[in-house]
Amino acid sequence: MTTNPPAANDPAQVARQYATDQHLQTRIETQRRYSVGKELEAEIDAALALDGSETLLDVGTGPGHFPGRLYAAGHQGRVVGADLSGGMVEKAQSSFAGVKFVQAGADALPFADASFDVLTARHMLYHVPSVPAALEEFRRVLKPGGRFLAVTNAARYMPELWDVVAEANELDSALNALAVTRSGVAAAFSEANGEAWVQEAFGNAQLSFLDNALVFPAPEPVLAYLESHSAWLALGEAEQTRGRAALKTVLQSRFQNGPWTVSKRTVFISAVR
Ligand SMILES: C[S@@+](CC[C@H](N)C(=O)[O-])C[C@H]1O[C@@H](n2cnc3c(N)ncnc32)[C@H](O)[C@@H]1O
Repeated sequence: MTTNPPAANDPAQVARQYATDQHLQTRIETQRRYSVGKELEAEIDAALALDGSETLLDVGTGPGHFPGRLYAAGHQGRVVGADLSGGMVEKAQSSFAGVKFVQAGADALPFADASFDVLTARHMLYHVPSVPAALEEFRRVLKPGGRFLAVTNAARYMPELWDVVAEANELDSALNALAVTRSGVAAAFSEANGEAWVQEAFGNAQLSFLDNALVFPAPEPVLAYLESHSAWLALGEAEQTRGRAALKTVLQSRFQNGPWTVSKRTVFISAVR
């Protein structure tokens, strides 16, 4: 039996996944501990080339690490983080007192027209119900000449990892919903459709890629990473037990000769208002 890809932008799933930062934190920690090669934050800084005076809005800010980091580095312009999740906003505000955080959806931002010099949407546009509506709203709150940057996963993101899930799903179909997660995110917002959407909203769009990797020392952090996904959390206990056993069996083959490398391709799409 095949299952349709779970919609990465299904509001109920998004609300469950991000009610708190618990599951996101697992993935952030995985990236922090096991990433090798070019570093995402440095590449984002290079792409934005901020001079520190800009007013900046980070939409879908999660626990607020990015605006918090800018503020701590001495950014002088007003920095604001917005997120749909009240739990995320609470977490962000308690972590970074110098930054203003607001609870708001990407398609209904509580700001006047032409309020910001820079708007970032990092790993969040695949969650919004309508990407064109969100982009229209981003354009509205940006000043003329203001800059937009979206960061997202490439259509083939972590292919080696999702191949493991697909193999494990052949051993036990309990993992079917997780196996199709891969295409759900890509379908919602990746380089395949994102550049055209941004071009349509802004009249210009520039696409670039960051290629790096995760090197896992053992199967456990791979399992923890997969188990933080919505499709896993939605499984019953029995399915999780069977799914974990199947994943462990397949992962054994990947760790036979030591650490296991999973490649990552991240997409940057930028535009000028
Ligand atoms: C994968 S996390 C990314 C967090 C952060 N930008 C980062 O890069 O670590 C996605 C975030 O987008 C938020 N989000 C999802 N749908 C949203 C929407 N329609 N409007 C605003 N935020 C949304 C979620 O609550 C979550 O905090």
